[in-house]
Amino acid sequence: MAAAGSAIGLGNIWRFPYLTGENGGAAFVFVYILCVVFIGIPVMWNELALGRYTQKNPIGAIIAVRGKTPWVIIGILSFIVCFLVLGYYSVIAGWTIGYIFTSLFKVQMNFASFTANLAYMIPLYALFIFLTIWIVQCGIEKGIERWTKILMPILFFLCIVVCIRSVTLPNAMAGVRYYLVPDFAKITPQVVLAAVGQAFFSLSVGWGLMIVYGSYMSKQQSIVSGGVSVAVADTTVALLGGFMVFPAVFAFGKSPAGGPTLTFEVLPQVFEMMPGGSIVGAGFFLLLMLAALTSSISMLEVPVSYYVDEKKWSRKYASWIVGIMAFIVGIPSALSCGASQWLSSVEFVGQKGFMNIMDQFFGTLSLVLIALLICLFTGWRCNIHDFVDEMAIGAPGFKQKRLIFSLAQMWMFFTRVLCPTVLTVLLLSQIGFKINPVHVAIVLFLLLAILHFVFPAKRKNQA
Ligand code: PHE
Repeated sequence: MAAAGSAIGLGNIWRFPYLTGENGGAAFVFVYILCVVFIGIPVMWNELALGRYTQKNPIGAIIAVRGKTPWVIIGILSFIVCFLVLGYYSVIAGWTIGYIFTSLFKVQMNFASFTANLAYMIPLYALFIFLTIWIVQCGIEKGIERWTKILMPILFFLCIVVCIRSVTLPNAMAGVRYYLVPDFAKITPQVVLAAVGQAFFSLSVGWGLMIVYGSYMSKQQSIVSGGVSVAVADTTVALLGGFMVFPAVFAFGKSPAGGPTLTFEVLPQVFEMMPGGSIVGAGFFLLLMLAALTSSISMLEVPVSYYVDEKKWSRKYASWIVGIMAFIVGIPSALSCGASQWLSSVEFVGQKGFMNIMDQFFGTLSLVLIALLICLFTGWRCNIHDFVDEMAIGAPGFKQKRLIFSLAQMWMFFTRVLCPTVLTVLLLSQIGFKINPVHVAIVLFLLLAILHFVFPAKRKNQA
């Protein structure tokens, strides 16, 4: 439940629809689902197994397996990513707080003037991050988890109600087609990168967080089915997110490629057209804010757990120091949605605006890098059988052969060959190497596959 609470958040309702709109609609959705199944889930299992095997936080886990090694960079990077993303994630969560009130009191406000107004942006942002810090400092995430169990189904139900309204708007079918009928010609390396990055963002994979949650799992629980359940719940909510947004986008004659503000511009209009819309709207944004809160507390938890475990800081001190630092670092993001001309228009790594640059750099590329390093570490640097054995605890079927392969054999192949190939090619093509992605992928795939089959990982007692 905690992992599902972390996974389901703004990534599903805010980030997934806007990336789908920017990357060609249904083609992106198609690639996204493949990424969740073939890359997201294997890497999630990998993180959970690493955590339960070592019983440590991301930095401690790497050291526990291989001693002091440069691979510790995996832990350090996840620490940095959680810290930096917490800043801009909270800015967007602050928007949801604002929207609870504008919906409830039927305040007509143009989105651009809302986000450009510092008198709203900063206090809402501060309020959200303050709530996050307060929950983490009290160590009451467990209590929140209980609420998650009640609130998430309500959010789910509201999403379905909003979908129905959206799909029944005039001209909504154009949006449904855009969302469901793929044009495969639109699939480019850029689209694949966005899809892989979104899979990691949304599943909370590649942040080291699942290592922490793995360390909390009992040996009776199954990493395999637990991971799949989280992925299914998360993907279902994301797909609903798209179903709420796209039919309405087309019904209102807007562009699907409207960028990060898409959800916030479209949904209030849908609520307006529903009976009792102001209550439904306020309730929806309240639940979305709470979903974001269960995500942001887990983001803050990663650096805080490190300082508490390894540096022996008190929980309260660590939460406030890290939280306030994250707040300060996030301020430029809060200013980059219209308040500051320069921060809103600055361009880098193909993105415009400071927040989008942060999102591309830390919310996408860094996650891909961390996931790649995790696959290489457990697949090639450690004895992968240790993790296979860990995953088989609580999941006896994992090693059983079905048809030709067992799930364990497939997972080893994915971890050692498929995931590293895809992730490396994506990173190379992004860092600016002028490569032919297909050719490089084929060469790398063959190379790793040969190594995998010719030098299979040996069990300790066979070595
Ligand atoms: N998965 C969350 C979302 O979709 C974001 C998140 C990532 C939260 C990592 C915590 C840790 O909104």
